[in-house]
Amino acid sequence: MDTRPFENERTLAAHRENGSLDEFHRSYADAVASVESELGASHSLWIDGRWVETDETYTVTSPADENLEIGRFAAGGSDEVDRAVAAASDAFDEWRGTHWRERAEMFRRAAEVMRERKFELAATLTLENGKNRAEAMADVDEGIDFLRFYARELERNDGYEYDTGEPTPGQHCTNALEPFGVFAVVGPFNFPFAIFCGMLSGALLTGNTAVAKPASATPLIAHRAVEILVEAGVPDGVVNLVTGSGRAVGQPLVEHEDVAGAVFTGSRTVGRSIRRTFFDLEKSGPVIAELGGKNPVIVTANADLEKAVSGVRNGAFGYSGQKCSATSRVYVDERVIEAFTDRLVDATEELVIDRPRAEDAFVSPLIDDDALDRYVEICEAAREVGTIRTGGRVVAGGDGSGGSGAEDRTGDLSAGRFVEPTVVTGVPHDHELARDEHFVPFVTVHPVSGLDEAITKANDSSYGLCAGLFSEDEAEIDAWFERIESGMCYVNREQSATTGALVQAQPFGGWKASGTTSKFAGGYWYLPQFLREQSRTVVG
Ligand code: NAD
Ligand code: ALA
Repeated sequence: MDTRPFENERTLAAHRENGSLDEFHRSYADAVASVESELGASHSLWIDGRWVETDETYTVTSPADENLEIGRFAAGGSDEVDRAVAAASDAFDEWRGTHWRERAEMFRRAAEVMRERKFELAATLTLENGKNRAEAMADVDEGIDFLRFYARELERNDGYEYDTGEPTPGQHCTNALEPFGVFAVVGPFNFPFAIFCGMLSGALLTGNTAVAKPASATPLIAHRAVEILVEAGVPDGVVNLVTGSGRAVGQPLVEHEDVAGAVFTGSRTVGRSIRRTFFDLEKSGPVIAELGGKNPVIVTANADLEKAVSGVRNGAFGYSGQKCSATSRVYVDERVIEAFTDRLVDATEELVIDRPRAEDAFVSPLIDDDALDRYVEICEAAREVGTIRTGGRVVAGGDGSGGSGAEDRTGDLSAGRFVEPTVVTGVPHDHELARDEHFVPFVTVHPVSGLDEAITKANDSSYGLCAGLFSEDEAEIDAWFERIESGMCYVNREQSATTGALVQAQPFGGWKASGTTSKFAGGYWYLPQFLREQSRTVVG
């Protein structure tokens, strides 16, 4: 067993510290060119160790450039779901009987392959879901971390089997955690590698088998992840990949009578419907669901404003706000709100909007037209009820109805969906702009009289995923920790107020409507959720 402290992958930071940033940029650029040259292929489903074609296919294009075809993907439906679930059911007995050490070894091998291919995987993310190089590499690093950390946890817990002793002479007792069977693994578009790998490895390492359904916008990176697991030795039928829409694949999958459990990351609406399905069908297995957020940050009069501005800007606008963890509402002490907001506006205007492959690109494209429409709508609403201090315009994409023709700042963005990061003031705290998750680069700033009011307002939300505080005062920090209703709590985090959790050190999950579980991804209690307890007694 590996007894060394867990170390996260820190690819970009390590290159920076070693003085080899040039090499990082070169490797990334080469990988983008190489992956791009192979785009446009057709991709089938992966069921029972075979490629399975479908009558219908769909085309995925890059959010940064609609002329760049990522590939044609099989559009699965109920028949393919049935086949995949049957394969996963058939493979279950042998897989659960495979020694946990062997399973852990497979996932370590897969993590090694991912390490070797990390630039290619990051380049795939840039092209497919529009992440810039830093965000893309962080996504890949986190995926590798999940595999290594969970393999290690399985070993550290001896496969979750405990000797519970001899309560009376002759009674030998053990307590085992056993897998449920087939898991539906349904992923989001925004961390299509890390979260997909994390959920899938959680299900498989614990001896369940899986039918995985990635977001329809990001099937290519899911193919790469599954291909690597197969290369590392995950047997036929244990992992199956069915691409297609939520309605055609996701829904029949979670409704399937032979699907015992579901692990899901995505919107609250879909998460709720999966829970309802499990309840209605009287399934006893778990729905492990990580859902949305409306993440508040508090800036007190004792904050270092430089740190607060940097943390809020990066938290709100990294990957263009398309993170469950994105900072989306900021409560600022009225004594410093003017200075804070002015500086936030200036700092936001410095962000570079460019194609995600560009070296200094910060602002990423929006994933689809729905997101663009949502952005246009909420900016219109913000103009009516408050003041847009910066942003609010479509740079490129859609029919331009919400934009005022803001010019591309660099390069040709016209075939992508790019919008300006937007800072808004004057919106009532209980307005839907400050209440609902919008998943675009949009943040509201609200004045408060002090920490007490700020915490009350921060907690006045059905969500409870991430929260941030900027204060140099220890009493304020203690008071905040005591009252804040949030799974992830960060103080004075300059690099990002609410995003960018690291596996093991910062297990990730939400309170309240932000999730269905109190055990977090990348944490010590994640794996047992995929298992059910069995108490075993042998007499004699
Ligand atoms: P989404 O809910 O639209 O889709 C997620 C997945 O569910 C996709 O694969 C989709 O095809 C599938 N799906 C859609 N309808 C379905 C149905 N009826 N039955 C089964 N599956 C169905 O979410 P998204 O747009 O991909 O991701 C954004 C959302 O995810 C945001 O709300 C964000 O906050 C959340 N998210 C949460 C976390 C977290 O860890 N808490 C992390 C990332 C994203
Ligand atoms: N784990 C991701 C973050 O912390 C969602 O931003």
